[in-house]
Amino acid sequence: MDNLYQIVASATADFATASESAKLEDAKARYLGKEGSLTALLKGLGKLPADQRKTAGAAINIAKERIESALVTRREALKSAQLDAQLATEALDVTLPGRGMPRGSLHPVTISLDRIEALFRSIGFEVADGPEIETDWHNFTALNTPENHPARSMHDTFYLLGEDGQVHDDVLLRTHTSPVQIRAMLAHAAAHEDLETMPELRVICPGRVYRVDSDATHSPMFHQVEGLWIGENVSFADLKGVVADFLRRFFESDDLKVRFRPSFFPFTEPSAEIDVAFMSGALEGRWLEIAGCGMVHPNVLRCGGFDPEKYTGFAFGMGPDRLTMLRYGINDLRLFFESDLRFLSQFQ
Ligand code: FA5
Ligand code: MG
Repeated sequence: MDNLYQIVASATADFATASESAKLEDAKARYLGKEGSLTALLKGLGKLPADQRKTAGAAINIAKERIESALVTRREALKSAQLDAQLATEALDVTLPGRGMPRGSLHPVTISLDRIEALFRSIGFEVADGPEIETDWHNFTALNTPENHPARSMHDTFYLLGEDGQVHDDVLLRTHTSPVQIRAMLAHAAAHEDLETMPELRVICPGRVYRVDSDATHSPMFHQVEGLWIGENVSFADLKGVVADFLRRFFESDDLKVRFRPSFFPFTEPSAEIDVAFMSGALEGRWLEIAGCGMVHPNVLRCGGFDPEKYTGFAFGMGPDRLTMLRYGINDLRLFFESDLRFLSQFQ
């Protein structure tokens, strides 16, 4: 039975050198398979004399158990090596640099508002601000628009529900930035005790306003920039000069097409609306209204604490959303408020 030791030794060596499970199973077949060398010995037991059969059988079984146990050990070693290799390839490398945050950019209307502020500051205007939830008095009454005035119907706005569930029509979402004219005048008059020697008031008021409006050139929430210049000899010619000069600088164009069209506002007299023609894009050559303007009505000066016998002034209210459409040749202003990054990222 010396042969048995050789078989066990050579099986153990073969298993140890099998580098993958298919090779290991081939090696197993050489010893334990149908034609395997150990199987051959088992088959030969019957030919042995009866007195040797028992010891020989026991020895073969021990050899078989050794080979099987070497096989199981090697199978497990190969399996765990394979798992290690798999873990190594799927490993998460926490030292890799991150992908980073994409860099944002300013909204095109914000870019316009910044330019408007910078240009008006450069000619001595200050920037003022007023609430978006406004009183009916500031939004209409103080602007020479009494309760039953037909101009109120053009400004169909959003009123507010009180805690009692009732509509409070004495407060509303402002329909224009003109109420800030009143607030700026009252603050200016209050800041100067001697109304006789009060300095000129030059102010712009940018902000959001609200109306029941929606189409390619009207949005229910939009922006306006109010302008107001009050002094002792301010005239309509000053209004035209300031606005035309601003527009040429805003659009960086000396041959910009601008027109003043006579119009009506209760808070100015005379009044005009200002149109600018598209210089590029699908609407090239088409006029777009960008502002209303006029000489501040005496009743409005009085509500703001100014003496209309001594002071005159002009005011305008323009739409920076419309200026942005003109500057970039955009034909639908609702694009500004849809938050589509494919559109917004073009204005870096
Ligand atoms: C007014 O709102 C007046 N308060 C302007 C004014 C101020 C006149 C001071 C005289 C003195 P109007 O409704 O025309 O006027 O609006 C002014 C500008 O706001 C328009 O020319 C336009 O550029 C812009 N605008 C008006 N409605 C919308 C809207 N729904 N969406 C976007 N822009 C608008
Ligand atoms: Mg108008």
